[in-house]
Amino acid sequence: MNLEKLGFSRSTYSEVILTVRLEEMINAAPMGVLLNEGGKIYLRVYKGQRIHDMIVNGAEDCVLNITSDPILFYNAIFEKEKIPYCPAERVSSPRIRDCDAYVECSIINVTGHGEYVKAFLKPLLINVAERAVSAYHRAGPAIIEALICYTRLLYFKDADREKAESLKKMIDIFRDIVYHSTENNRLREIATKILERSEEALLTKKTTSTRGLPKKS
Ligand SMILES: Cc1cc2nc3c(=O)[nH]c(=O)nc-3n(C[C@H](O)[C@H](O)[C@H](O)COP(=O)(O)O)c2cc1C
Repeated sequence: MNLEKLGFSRSTYSEVILTVRLEEMINAAPMGVLLNEGGKIYLRVYKGQRIHDMIVNGAEDCVLNITSDPILFYNAIFEKEKIPYCPAERVSSPRIRDCDAYVECSIINVTGHGEYVKAFLKPLLINVAERAVSAYHRAGPAIIEALICYTRLLYFKDADREKAESLKKMIDIFRDIVYHSTENNRLREIATKILERSEEALLTKKTTSTRGLPKKS
């Protein structure tokens, strides 16, 4: 198995859940990753996030947990304490249980670019679970898109109110998609919670946080 076969690309972000350890501290967060010319993986991590500080302060390795489970993506932002970890094979950072595949990496370089750092990863081990394919569902991708809008809304809410309001409208649309495409109560509840959290964020006063994702559009 190689990274291209797993869907990694030089042109299109692969959205994974990154797990990182720094001493006793463990964290997980969704991240977009790309391949570069040398076959290495890199990601852009914005300031104001815990995972940014862990990488800048010396985390040596990480795991790219590959999953399309929207609940794992949701928990990796809102309910991190619910993430079920298990040990990795080659690195000190843990895996998240029951993902479709894992790429265990060492962090070989970190470069600063103002609002974000680029972390360059060397893959040490790729492990793919044997699992039946599953048909496409609309609800999962709609939830993951809503989460992306939410983290971008946190970034824009003080800097560009109009943009933040339009992200909230998109979250509303993704919630509609979830309600149209599933009767699963947990997924519906999650879609509603993301919308509520967005509304709350728009009501709160200016913060120093720079969390979020200005990169993709
Ligand atoms: C699908 C998805 C992809 C994301 N990609 C990135 C990314 O590439 N870089 C980034 O800095 N934040 C990204 N985020 C936002 C972070 O995951 C989010 O801010 C997270 O809460 C950070 O957690 P932390 O503060 O514990 O580090 C992404 C969010 C989602 C939902």
